Amino acid sequence: MDVLATNAAPPPIIRRADYQVPDWLVPTITLDVDLDPAATRVRATLEVARNGTHARALVLDGDGLEPLAVRVDGANADWHLQDGDLVVQLSGDTHLVETEVVIAPERNTQLMGLYASSGLLCTQCEAQGFRRITFFPDRPDVLSRYHVRMAADAERFPVLLANGDPVAAGLLDDGRHWAEWNDPFPKPCYLFALVAGDLQANRDTFVTRSGREVELGIWVRAADLAKTDHALHALKTSMKWDEDVYGREYDLDVFNIVAVDDFNFGAMENKGLNIFNSRYILADPDTATDYDYDGIAAVVAHEYFHNWSGNRVTCRDWFQLSLKEGFTVFRDQGFSADQGSAAVKRIEDVRGLRAAQFPEDAGPLAHPVRPDEYIEISNFYTATIYNKGAEVIRMMATLLGPQRFRAGSDLYFQRFDGTAATVEDFVSCMEEAGDIDLAQFRRWYTQAGTPRVTAQLRHEPGSARAQLSLAQAVPPTPGQPHKEPMVLPLRLKLFGGETGRALTEEQLVTLTDPAAEVTFDGLAERPVLSINRGFSAPVIIDAARTPADLAFLSAHDDDPFARYEAMQQLMLDTLVLSVATGRADHRAVVEAVGNTLRDAALDHAFVAEAVLLPSESFIGDQLAQVDPDAIFRAREALRAELGTALEREWRAAYDATEANRFEYSPAAKGDRRLRSVALGYIAASGANDAAALAFRQFERADNMTDRQGALVTLAGGTSDERVAALDIFYNRYSDNPLVLDKWFQVQALSQRDDTADTVAELARHRDFTLANPNRARALVGAFSVNQRAFHERSGRGYRFLADQLLALDKLNPQTAAKLLPPLGRWKRFDPARAALMRAELERLLAVPGLSKDMFEQASKSLD
Ligand code: ARG
Ligand code: ZN
Repeated sequence: MDVLATNAAPPPIIRRADYQVPDWLVPTITLDVDLDPAATRVRATLEVARNGTHARALVLDGDGLEPLAVRVDGANADWHLQDGDLVVQLSGDTHLVETEVVIAPERNTQLMGLYASSGLLCTQCEAQGFRRITFFPDRPDVLSRYHVRMAADAERFPVLLANGDPVAAGLLDDGRHWAEWNDPFPKPCYLFALVAGDLQANRDTFVTRSGREVELGIWVRAADLAKTDHALHALKTSMKWDEDVYGREYDLDVFNIVAVDDFNFGAMENKGLNIFNSRYILADPDTATDYDYDGIAAVVAHEYFHNWSGNRVTCRDWFQLSLKEGFTVFRDQGFSADQGSAAVKRIEDVRGLRAAQFPEDAGPLAHPVRPDEYIEISNFYTATIYNKGAEVIRMMATLLGPQRFRAGSDLYFQRFDGTAATVEDFVSCMEEAGDIDLAQFRRWYTQAGTPRVTAQLRHEPGSARAQLSLAQAVPPTPGQPHKEPMVLPLRLKLFGGETGRALTEEQLVTLTDPAAEVTFDGLAERPVLSINRGFSAPVIIDAARTPADLAFLSAHDDDPFARYEAMQQLMLDTLVLSVATGRADHRAVVEAVGNTLRDAALDHAFVAEAVLLPSESFIGDQLAQVDPDAIFRAREALRAELGTALEREWRAAYDATEANRFEYSPAAKGDRRLRSVALGYIAASGANDAAALAFRQFERADNMTDRQGALVTLAGGTSDERVAALDIFYNRYSDNPLVLDKWFQVQALSQRDDTADTVAELARHRDFTLANPNRARALVGAFSVNQRAFHERSGRGYRFLADQLLALDKLNPQTAAKLLPPLGRWKRFDPARAALMRAELERLLAVPGLSKDMFEQASKSLD
């Protein structure tokens, strides 16, 4: 299981520069899988072909496998095991290699390879899980045709699914049955999947634009069938969208999705058989929030889009991961933007980028979008690969414009269909189809760190001319002390500071040098700068605008994202000043928020986003040293003041958004979002009736968004209603694991003073288990991003996290390692906290048998 023995040498570093083409190819593989939770027999027959002229042995990756038999062309073979891999000496250029192993899915707690989850058997092979099922060249540039035969107990596992198309099925005499599936498309083994279980399908069909009829099925337990309509609808919408927007059509006769409860991440794009974390499939109004609904549609679309960006064209090696992930995130973001408000979607995506990717890029685990080395590839499924990778694609789309970007995408799919490609291949297609030079732009793939742009607009009173000075700098990151200038596409526009009129058209200024000047003429009045509109470049802007100008933009900018951004900057500047000086001047924020609330023309979802204060951790990111308590106090003071000063507006917004019946539409979602935000501010005002109001919403809600919104407000307070609501919620949903996750998470994120105690208690709750990744993330993951609670001065939060990580590492190193980064942010805190954090990292590293996943994260975090 890839553990380090005591005093073992550190695990090897894999380097991109060392890439070699595979020694042996595997044009076909036949798998015969005799399924049983305790002992599953896997027989594999590989057609192998020597790749080029060399005399090297065939090396088949294996992880925890014991070969029971190895035959070459039907005869006993010359083989040995080396670090778990099977080495076979072969004389000819093509051979048939057969292996047989027995594995125990019910004992597989890593959830990689073949494992059991709530009574079903399923697989997860990306990145390197296939080697836990059978011996194989487990690398994405070995593409094979798969023929799979499964047999299993007919009663426990009546449904048998694999990639591609079903070809035959039948009964065996001992209460077992079998099925055969064939996938006509060559694929890397990370896209292999099978599922066996007692499942029912919500079925439908989709007719592709060329008239192919595709059978769709969303497979779940019978009891969950009623919660699959939203995912099915999202699937059909995605299939159509990819035809319309990217010209991509589906290519098999069936497309199945299976939901499983125990899953290391969101979902997996296995060819024709996507496997999902059930939280990204199951939804009904009583159990899923609007946020959950949106997440389901986005992830269903994401995995479906991988059929082209990932499967038809896959990655040559894992350093190219963002080739499929960055591009596919960009594609799913475009899909979601088209389903509702594009502006609100952009705001959410940027908020997410700033919450997860910016801190990663500023910390010890920073890495380029195309990394140069790794110890454990699972640690590189990061916000940088996914979300910064998507921003890099977005910038290319901006530089090329929609038509040329689409031409580049078409060229890429056409040229590399059926192959394992590189980031370089993608960029070259964009360059060729876009007739543009992207040489310097490629630095986005090689340099880590978030660029900083300073922008200073100079204007003499009365003059018709203004001068904009732009400068960029990319901070040093681990292994990259010096940086070269980047290509930064900045959308900008000037507004008149007196009238609010647009003084210029929006223009795209692409900064490529360390500094540049832009001159504007013919200005009729004092200009105010709107820059990085739509977040056209994933950078930090320092434009030194006054509170008055920011308030002005928050009311007048015609780009909704820029309006949001101006408000955020105003709030941030106000909070940073109040943390630094202990004195607060809230007037500009109160006025700007009031204006936004009173602007009847604005969409409620937008208003809800715009009036939300920056998170405590984002405030911390602006400071030279994070003071969690001071940040909490400053933010709470502003929240209370906004609540009090605008109480009438909050109550008006609250009352205006009351619905008597649940509806899932962009407008109704916007109302619910604003309502919960308004409730939070009413509570922050200290109003006497706030808890009663929240409890009334909690009890009357006919949907989870309103119920959870009320619960969040109550759980952060000290009222009697708090305990009552938590109990009612728990009892009502005690048999629904996805909703219980919310119950754990709401308490772990609470801003109460006793959250650290509560979390320690919850870790001993009978419903808490580290074995389920969703549950582990709901409590441990949520707590460690609750800045004030996690960073409590005594260091108990750090100790708690390290204890949980050590326990989880024994079961599931991949999920454990993902939860470590908050402990690595010690450089951002005072020396006392930093020492406590380092001590926990050192304690982790001293533990014998630590996984290489954790070793990599912890050792890098100490540097
Ligand atoms: N490819 C999957 C996706 O759609 C995620 C796979 C994650 N694998 C991992 N080892 N973390 O994003
Ligand atoms: Zn993906």
